[in-house]
Amino acid sequence: MSVSYKPVIWNRSKMIYDGVLLAGIAIYILIFLKVGPVLSPALRDVDLPTQRMRAFGSLALLMLTIVLAIGPLARIDTRFIPLLYNRRHFGVMTAIVAATHAYYVLGWYFSYSPTPQLTALFTSNTSFTSVAGFPFELFGVFALIILAVLAVTSHDFWLSFLTPPLWKAIHMSVYLAYASIILHVALGALLDRRDLALGFLSLGGLTLLCVLHLMAGRRETASDHAASAKAPEEPWIVVGDLSEIAEGRAIIGASPGGERIAVFRSKGGLSAVSNVCSHQNGPIGEGKVVLGFITCPWHGYQYRPEDGCSPPPFRERIRKYRVRLQGSTVVVDPQPLPLGTKLDPVAIPAELLPPTPKKEGTA
Ligand code: HEM
Ligand code: FES
Repeated sequence: MSVSYKPVIWNRSKMIYDGVLLAGIAIYILIFLKVGPVLSPALRDVDLPTQRMRAFGSLALLMLTIVLAIGPLARIDTRFIPLLYNRRHFGVMTAIVAATHAYYVLGWYFSYSPTPQLTALFTSNTSFTSVAGFPFELFGVFALIILAVLAVTSHDFWLSFLTPPLWKAIHMSVYLAYASIILHVALGALLDRRDLALGFLSLGGLTLLCVLHLMAGRRETASDHAASAKAPEEPWIVVGDLSEIAEGRAIIGASPGGERIAVFRSKGGLSAVSNVCSHQNGPIGEGKVVLGFITCPWHGYQYRPEDGCSPPPFRERIRKYRVRLQGSTVVVDPQPLPLGTKLDPVAIPAELLPPTPKKEGTA
């Protein structure tokens, strides 16, 4: 699919976000290396490379847990939405921190092996049938490969090149990476040391993520029911004139309640949807219709004009609104329809459509 995406522009907020992130990483590592050995005899008794390996490993796990918590948190409480803003940079930094952990592991754990480090990593332990002696490192390798692929393909170029559905499917594997890291830690450091802080970080983090995802899901279901129960008493609102909407594009209006509504024009029909993308609240009305799908300008998530649902296998949905033409004036019912409601585009009468240019040679 050849789609030109409007990149999310580099701006002051993003720089602050990244600055805070980098400062947080530096502070964590400093505290871990300077204060950790004072508080924990287990950490005091090991050498500096092992301390570094543990510092970066635990930080990577913490960061991944936060990255995965941001989505449901923003759906539960809108005050977390600013955290979504630059989540991709958060993910890339997580991959870099995880790679630093692996770098210290390879440089230390396998440096005295007569075989090359990478070969030793894959061949030194083959106790696949034992739980306590399982080569847990392999789960780390698997997770690191996924994180690296996600970091490399996080740029908008790859979104455009791979197409949004494939890009999104690949990026859902972050959950696979997380599961793999939990196994990596549970079968490795947790079995070995029964470290309380690490247990809290891994198993506590896992529980927290499950609870947050469940809460976000329940909240969405509740708001669907609330939307379908409301009576359509509000009057319809004027969004603009049909002539203002270019083919494949939208105009944006606002409901009295403040919700912004985008009315798209495509192939002689009008469809009204929420202006807020379900991915990261991007302004859908600034996007366009690509291959029949309303496409968000930020990261290319797509929705069907008739029901606001992403094409299978994806399950994102945005709200639909009723739309009507009064002469050439576009009006919408500000009452959102329940998520997933199918409503065919409103046909634009022939007299309001631009005249079709006559083909050469025809009368
Ligand atoms: C090439 C990939 C990797 C290798 C070879 C590797 C190897 C190791 C090894 C040998 C340990 C030491 C276990 C112990 O002290 O008993 C460890 C611990 C750990 N790893 Fe990895 N790992 C890799 C990737 C990852 C990734 C991608 C993450 C997280 C994103 C991660 C998170 C951790 C954590 C949290 C620990 C426990 C740290 C601690 O002991 O306090 N690892 N890893
Ligand atoms: S905000 Fe990311 S695709 Fe819409």
